[in-house]
Amino acid sequence: MTVEIRRSRAADVGGIADVCTRGYRATYRGLLPDEHIERTIRDFYGEDRIAGEIDPAPPHWLGYVVAVEPGAGVPGERVVGAAGGAVTGDATGELYVLYLDPDRRGEGIGTRLLDHVTGQLLEHGATGMWVSVTEGNELGLPFYRARGFIEAGRRPAYTEPDTEPDMQSHNGSDVPHSVRMYRPIGRSRSSMIPECND
Ligand SMILES: CC(C)(COP(=O)(O)OP(=O)(O)OC[C@H]1O[C@@H](n2cnc3c(N)ncnc32)[C@H](O)[C@@H]1OP(=O)(O)O)[C@@H](O)C(=O)NCCC(=O)NCCS
Repeated sequence: MTVEIRRSRAADVGGIADVCTRGYRATYRGLLPDEHIERTIRDFYGEDRIAGEIDPAPPHWLGYVVAVEPGAGVPGERVVGAAGGAVTGDATGELYVLYLDPDRRGEGIGTRLLDHVTGQLLEHGATGMWVSVTEGNELGLPFYRARGFIEAGRRPAYTEPDTEPDMQSHNGSDVPHSVRMYRPIGRSRSSMIPECND
């Protein structure tokens, strides 16, 4: 089936919420505490919040980008992937979200969504982009490495000062960390990796 990559519209809200919810759960189960997973889904991937984020608000949010295909046996389109980014510095951007229907990995859809967000960042003058990937996310890290991102630092994946004991990861080790990854984009590819300054 043909998958199209395009800017999202109001009719995509339910599909984006579904794909991000299922993608987030499938990615982080066993890696982050269940209560953190469910809270993140509630806070970021509920339909109300997504409805308010369909329209771009540049430079701080460039809007959801979706991968859609014709719905099998139902009218309209089915969302199979969603992504979104923002301009976060003078000439840098950040990929904030990239999730797929877990059954649709490995078809090149993630690359096409990443390309679309990269194109948006280039249009806004970015010459490099960042992404944070949770340490141990072996569905995400190899993908970004294959697409030219280089590991440039790490930081706690999240902070919950009031619930310190819950910050232990399931295997009892320290708080999970995010790997900060960077790649230059556009024509002026530089070998310099700037300090992570956020
Ligand atoms: C990360 C993700 C969006 C990638 O999308 P995708 O459509 O599966 O990836 P593609 O088919 O476009 O693959 C792109 C490249 O990454 C490589 N790759 C992807 N996943 C990989 C893995 N787990 N291990 C090794 N290589 C991998 C592929 O080999 C391919 O490289 P190549 O074309 O040079 O051979 C998708 O796998 C996913 O949803 N993962 C879980 C959610 C997630 O981690 N999101 C990111 C949170 S920051």
